[in-house]
This record gives sequence, structure tokens and C-alpha cells, in this order.
Amino acid sequence: MQKILVVDDAEVNRELLKSILENEYIVETAVNGKQALQKLQDYHSDTAAVLLDLQMPIIDGFTVIAEMKRKGWIERVPVLIISGETGPEIESQCFELGVSDFIHKPFDASIVRNRVKSTIEHFSRRNRLEQKVEEQAEALKKQSHIIQMQAERLSDARPFNKLMMEYRSVIMEVETRLKVLNAVFSEEYKRNPFEAIKSRLKTPESIYSKLERKGYPVTIENIREQVADVAGLRVICSFPDDIYRLAELLIRQDDIILLKEKDYIKTPKTNGYRSLHLILKVPIFLPNIKKYMRVEVQFRTIAMDFWASLEHKLKYKKDIHDTGEIEQRLKACADSIEALDYQMQEIRDKIDSSGR
Ligand code: GTP
Ligand code: MG
Repeated sequence: MQKILVVDDAEVNRELLKSILENEYIVETAVNGKQALQKLQDYHSDTAAVLLDLQMPIIDGFTVIAEMKRKGWIERVPVLIISGETGPEIESQCFELGVSDFIHKPFDASIVRNRVKSTIEHFSRRNRLEQKVEEQAEALKKQSHIIQMQAERLSDARPFNKLMMEYRSVIMEVETRLKVLNAVFSEEYKRNPFEAIKSRLKTPESIYSKLERKGYPVTIENIREQVADVAGLRVICSFPDDIYRLAELLIRQDDIILLKEKDYIKTPKTNGYRSLHLILKVPIFLPNIKKYMRVEVQFRTIAMDFWASLEHKLKYKKDIHDTGEIEQRLKACADSIEALDYQMQEIRDKIDSSGR
């Protein structure tokens, strides 16, 4: 049951209203404005309505209304005036102060019940609506904040995405040039210098962690300057001599700049890794500009690639037993592969020369 506060200095009125309302509400009473304000101070938040007399000793009804208004209670607790001698001026004065309704003496039980009930319902509906509006405004505010954050992130990402597009373009560029060379070879010599091309764009995570490792902040500038292998191509050839022929033909193209060559075929890594690495600068043609992009091209034979894929797995497996033994065996395989590559190449030469 909801709580109602009846404020009247006449005991007979308090008792009468209490008897009318006590079946539906918990009826609290106060004998004057002072006591009413004290009670409201304690439980205004769970009072459903105040029935208030105007003429009372010590503190009158008007002062109670003014005080409730000052404290903001009148926004949450409806006030119904229960006064005998109200004229139109007094009523309009009370409405202006924020009073909800008037119940005139003598009290009729059903009018009192209906007025109190509808006032409480009206108020709680209004409060619920207000709360809903507040909640919705809050939700809207949150959403617009999220949208703003996403917009900011998007505009941060735009230059990065553009750079990645440029790296994808240089991969396409180099791939096309290599395919053209392959086509020419297969036309003239009836064989392909490479079996396959694999390409990959370094992932953002991998770019960031490489810059971090090198101690550079993540900026577009630093990605361009400090990370040589954002764009990567791997050219898988059948024979070692194809690697050098193809690399030479690519480097000789007059708009390609060789920045660095690492020949791990002539000088293998101690683990046995063999490949020819070229860091190149290759132009891409964008609307209105020609832009040089860095690209890493790795050349290997099929056998070297087979080896490197297996060896690569070892790097990512942390909790391996017998790493030493595996490394030794891989090194032995690398040496066998080298011997095999050159033997195959010799056999090919023999076949080629005896076939003519
Ligand atoms: P990264 O920081 O890894 O790029 O090395 P780096 O800048 O010193 O260049 P390097 O030419 O040594 O290696 C470039 C790439 O070649 C690597 O990212 C690998 O793809 C490959 N690579 C180099 N060494 C090895 C190796 O020992 N095993 C395997 N499986 N791949 C290797
Ligand atoms: Mg690399």
C-alpha cells in the first residue's frame, strides 16, 4: 500500500479522511505545517500524495507548499488542498505554486477516493514518462558518443588504409612484371622460370610489433621508412639458376631500384636457410602521381621453400623438446636439398642439350 499524508489541524477532518482512505492507503497524519514538513523530510520519497489544509497554526499550508517547491518535492509528490474557504484567487494562486487538485469540504467519500486515486495515477504516469525520456536521452547521448568515437577511429584509419592500398598495388605491379617474364620465357624456351608466386601484406599487428621492437612510434612515415617488408612476394622457382636469371631481369627494369640484396643461397644462414632476398623500390601509378613503394621479394627453389615452411614451424612452437636435435636434422636436410637442387639442375641441362 502507498503512503498518504493528511495535514489538518482539525482532528475531525484528519479522522474523517483517514477513515475514507485507510482501506487503500497507509494514512499518516500531521497536525500542522511544521509537523508535515518534518514527516516529509523523512519520507517524501515514498509518499504518494499530500492532502493539505491551508489555514493551520504555526506553519500554514501555503508555507508548506512553498517549502516543498523549494526542496523540489512537489515535482514528485502531488499536493491536494483540503480547505473549506477557497475562492478562485486562492485556488489559482495554489495552482501556480504547483498544487495538483482541490477537494472541498464537506468531504464526500467517493469524490475524495477518486480525486486522490486519479491524482496519484496521473503523477506516477508523468514520472514514469519523465524517467523514460531521461533514460532515452541518456542512451542517445551514449550512442552519439560511440558514433563520434567511431568516426574518429575511421579518420585515423584512413591514411593507414590508403598506405595499405598502395602496398597492395605494388604487390600487383611486381607480380605482373614477373608473370610477363614468365610468359616470355615459356614462349622462347618452352619452360617456366618460376612455378608459383605467393604474396602477402603484413598485418597491422605485425607492422605495429615490428615498429615497437625497433623502437619507433607507429606513424605512416615510420611504416614507410622502417618496415621493408610490408609488401612481400615469394617466387618459387624450379632451379637455382632460374632464381638469378629472374632476379637479374627484374632488377634491370629501368624504373626498379635495388635497395638491398641478401643472398642466403651463396651464404646460407647457420640453420641452413637459403633464399635470395631483394628489397626493391618499385613505382606504382596513382591518379596524377607516380609513387615508389618498398617491396621485399624472396626467391627460392621448390625444395628450399619446402624446407623453410617446415623450419618456420619450429620458430612458433615454444615448448618443444629436443630442439637441438631437430635443428641438426633440419640443417642436414638443407644440405641435402642444396645438393639435390644442383643435381636436378645438371640433369635438366643434360636433357636440354641432348634434346636438340
Ligand atoms: P625480419 O625482421 O624477419 O624481416 O628479418 P630481417 O629484416 O633481418 O630480414 P631477413 O632477410 O633475414 O628475413 C626476412 C624474411 O625471410 C623473414 O621474415 C622470413 O620470411 C624469411 N626468413 C629469414 N630467415 C629465415 C629462417 O631462418 N627461416 C625461415 N623459415 N624463414 C626465414
Ligand atoms: Mg621480414
